[in-house]
Amino acid sequence: MKWVAFVLMVGASLSCTGQSIFHQGIMERLDEGEKFPFGVASGDPRQDRVVLWTKVVPTQIGSSVEVDWAIATDTNLTEVVGSGTVRTDSSSAFTVHLSATGLKAGTTYYYRFKTGEGISPTGRTRTAPDNPDRLRFAVASCSNYPAGYFNAYGLIAQQPDIDAVIHLGDYIYENGTQGAIGRGHIPPYEILTLSDYRSRYAQYRLDPDLLELHRLHPFIVIWDDHEIANNCYAQGAPRHDPKVCEWNARRLAAKRAYFEWLPVENPEKQSIVRSFNYGGLADLFMIDGRMEGRTPPIEDFKDPARFDPSRSMLGEGQTDWLTTGLRTSQARWKILGNNVMFSPMDFGKHAKERQRNMDGWDGYPTNRDRIFDTLQAHGIRDLIVITGDIHTAWGIELARDPHDPTVYDRKAGKGVVGAEFVTPSISSTNLDEQIGKFAAKFAAGYIKARKRNPHVRYANLMDHGFMLLELVADRASVRWIYSKSVKERTLRTRQGSAWHILHGGARLLKGE
Ligand SMILES: [Fe+2]
Repeated sequence: MKWVAFVLMVGASLSCTGQSIFHQGIMERLDEGEKFPFGVASGDPRQDRVVLWTKVVPTQIGSSVEVDWAIATDTNLTEVVGSGTVRTDSSSAFTVHLSATGLKAGTTYYYRFKTGEGISPTGRTRTAPDNPDRLRFAVASCSNYPAGYFNAYGLIAQQPDIDAVIHLGDYIYENGTQGAIGRGHIPPYEILTLSDYRSRYAQYRLDPDLLELHRLHPFIVIWDDHEIANNCYAQGAPRHDPKVCEWNARRLAAKRAYFEWLPVENPEKQSIVRSFNYGGLADLFMIDGRMEGRTPPIEDFKDPARFDPSRSMLGEGQTDWLTTGLRTSQARWKILGNNVMFSPMDFGKHAKERQRNMDGWDGYPTNRDRIFDTLQAHGIRDLIVITGDIHTAWGIELARDPHDPTVYDRKAGKGVVGAEFVTPSISSTNLDEQIGKFAAKFAAGYIKARKRNPHVRYANLMDHGFMLLELVADRASVRWIYSKSVKERTLRTRQGSAWHILHGGARLLKGE
């Protein structure tokens, strides 16, 4: 059976039991006979191993496919240090995940897959360094396909010496938006079923900038809400309609597709909660603030239920894991790969019921206090929180209660236990695209006003791009790099900004 024969066109998805491999619009983008159109990817780089990923387009859907792989120290793959054969089939949508082991720390490797006559592009990856003097990560989130071109992914691909790309979620969007630039979502409706989610990943993974970025750099990923459903929590999502589709079936489909398509170690665990150690320089904690233990949201920030200790962002087990990790970390910097804004933030009376973002940690303050308790009890003053979700760029001094002048003093740096750096969206709408340039500019100044949010040192609510996070022993710095546009495909950039914090907890300072 030729590949075209098993492409099923599915109409409006009314249940969670869709069965097709891909929806209309995906297969016609592929060259007939091409075995690896989704390229290659690598992820979760450790000192001695890295996950290698690919996906095969099979000739026949009914049988399994044998895939050879090799990893080497040279681009021609003559100095091979690992190789093997794996099988894949329709149960994993013909994706391949394998762990290349026995590697050397801090080393660049090249890898390739083969099946029959088909040979994949050559990927490049890099193992984690052992005990580095310096670490550099590109940090990204919120790539919405119909909203704009993934130029920022193209810019990250060009970075010559990053250790990994940290993706903080909203890697796909679940809605059926068509947008105005000819990049409408496939399928053209909100995804619910396994085949819906698979098609959505397939569409995103054919984007040339994302394809090339995965080929050139290892990823360390977590999801946010849109990989599952808008503003989701463990047991549901505000706009999810259980009459159309049972939540549990949708949740399982979304997670299954995620672990099929992303290069995460041990995908069978179906968990994104994990940590990475970089010797004495840094520990990186990747958390799940959506699906692990997050309780339902409350609407009104004035509702005293906000402070109910049973409400949680991470759930009991994950909170224990994180606080134990922070407490026992021997590294200079503790990095938190975080989904939604961590810092308390007053968006002002103009924001009305959105004066506090109840989808962020402000909606779960007692769980956040558990983390601040740990920092305080153990004198930890070097936490760097990196955050996505809100499509805008922020540099914030991390303080337990920045609105209380007795515990936080901006001038003296009193009460600062680290920094939160928020990465802008790759392409999802900024504030200016929602409310206009003038209003967005005003909003940035209004939020940053010293009397409102003295801990906010930098806010850009109007640009798309990514962050470069650099860690050395005595400082953690961030440079925001902005795309000139998302309305056309371009690698031109707009002037960014850089801020840093010195080790030991002090003020956020301008420059690198
Ligand atoms: Fe987003």
